[in-house]
Amino acid sequence: MNIVILAAGQGKRMHSNLPKVLHPLAGKALVSHVVDTARSLSPRKLCLVYGHGGDVVRSTLDAPDLSWALQEPQLGTGHAVQQALPFLDEAGTTLVLYGDVPLIQADTLKRLVQAAEGGLAILTVELADPHGYGRIVRNADGQVVRIVEQKDASVEERRIREINTGIMAMPTSRLGEWLARLSSNNAQNEYYLTDIVGMAVDAGLPVRTANPAHEWEVLGVNSKVQLAELERVAQRSMAETLMEQGVRLADPARIDVRGSLQCGRDVFIDVNCVFEGNVVLAEAVEVGPNCVLKNARIGAGSRLAAFTHIEDAVVGADGMIGPFARLRPGTELAEDVHVGNFVEIKKSRIAAHSKANHLAYIGDATIGSRVNVGAGTITCNYDGANKYQTIIEDDVFIGSDTQLVAPVTVGRGATLGAGTTLTKDAPPNTLTISRARQTSIPGWKRPVKPSGGKSGA
Ligand code: UD1
Ligand code: MG
Repeated sequence: MNIVILAAGQGKRMHSNLPKVLHPLAGKALVSHVVDTARSLSPRKLCLVYGHGGDVVRSTLDAPDLSWALQEPQLGTGHAVQQALPFLDEAGTTLVLYGDVPLIQADTLKRLVQAAEGGLAILTVELADPHGYGRIVRNADGQVVRIVEQKDASVEERRIREINTGIMAMPTSRLGEWLARLSSNNAQNEYYLTDIVGMAVDAGLPVRTANPAHEWEVLGVNSKVQLAELERVAQRSMAETLMEQGVRLADPARIDVRGSLQCGRDVFIDVNCVFEGNVVLAEAVEVGPNCVLKNARIGAGSRLAAFTHIEDAVVGADGMIGPFARLRPGTELAEDVHVGNFVEIKKSRIAAHSKANHLAYIGDATIGSRVNVGAGTITCNYDGANKYQTIIEDDVFIGSDTQLVAPVTVGRGATLGAGTTLTKDAPPNTLTISRARQTSIPGWKRPVKPSGGKSGA
């Protein structure tokens, strides 16, 4: 089988410098959804028809299994498929898809291709309001006779509610001859791909129709409004899949998955969470409201409290993270690690049972097991030019408001007194403290303003 994806249209109504088919839906370009679905059908040839200015499309998507047919100028859907012809295998069926109809499902396409066996098949739907679409004209026996475009249709034909979705499968061996015979003698002065339907009928080939499993599969994107509508459809569909797999969603209308989200049993996700890239939540993970997770793995039984932000990071089992925690790229937490509010961790590893519960910055650090990082602890990892490592060994206790000026090591079992600015290694099992000794000055008087007068500057 060959698959041709039409993506040369301009998309004027998007009002954007980005080519229409590159606008993202569920975190992936519109046309990439179509390409991925096409790939799942293992076609022999997969050809994209792109237009003038579509070089960005080509450079964004280019891959060894894709061929690229430039259509310039754009003279209609028939003309578009004609540009793809030299890239197709003559044998078998050619399936035509639209780059701006992103949610078409592989199962629907398989049924369409089956229906095209020995002839041609059109994917159609019945719409309450068919305005603007090509109509499927049938004879008295109900056989398809041809497709007529809205602008060419008679008043009577415009009453037909069965429309052409644009997705079609046809015998490749006949395609060259049919496309060569197309004329642009119609209301839009275009070469209509739809005109080959009448030619197939005249040639005595069977012309059949198939229907998508869901109407949303064939919805196209022409504007930002339609893009937003399809985004909701895609999100709803992913939410349903998650729930069918056993995930409990506080509200399926308030989750956004922009990539892939894999969940173990008994996962709970509260409202307004965003998942980007590849996210894996192991068994019994609980995600609080308003969390953002990108390329993250969360271990079994971990709880992420509200407003937790995690990117390119790993949380071990039974972790307690947030609220308001930020795990930046390169963070790896072992099991039972607690990270509380306003704690930022970057490129650091924290071993089991350690805690950083309040207000801290941990960057470029290796922290052992059972370490307590006090409130206000900062690793000073950057001198303006280079980054340095901080090593905190097992069973260390770091008092509040401590600065660790890297590179520096805190030995196993050490305690750092509150307020310490550590510039040299701290020996194991010892209290290290660097703050000035506390003194009280007897008889000291606080300055007072002269009585009566208002104070000036
Ligand atoms: C087309 C169909 C119509 C169908 C409708 C479904 C034809 C003649 N008409 O109409 O029966 O109901 O789609 O949405 O086929 N494209 C190119 N090159 C071109 C023209 C279009 O690549 O020269 C691409 C567009 O990018 C788009 C698709 O083909 O992805 C359809 O083009 P569009 O202009 O939307 O066709 P319609 O007039 O809506
Ligand atoms: Mg259209």
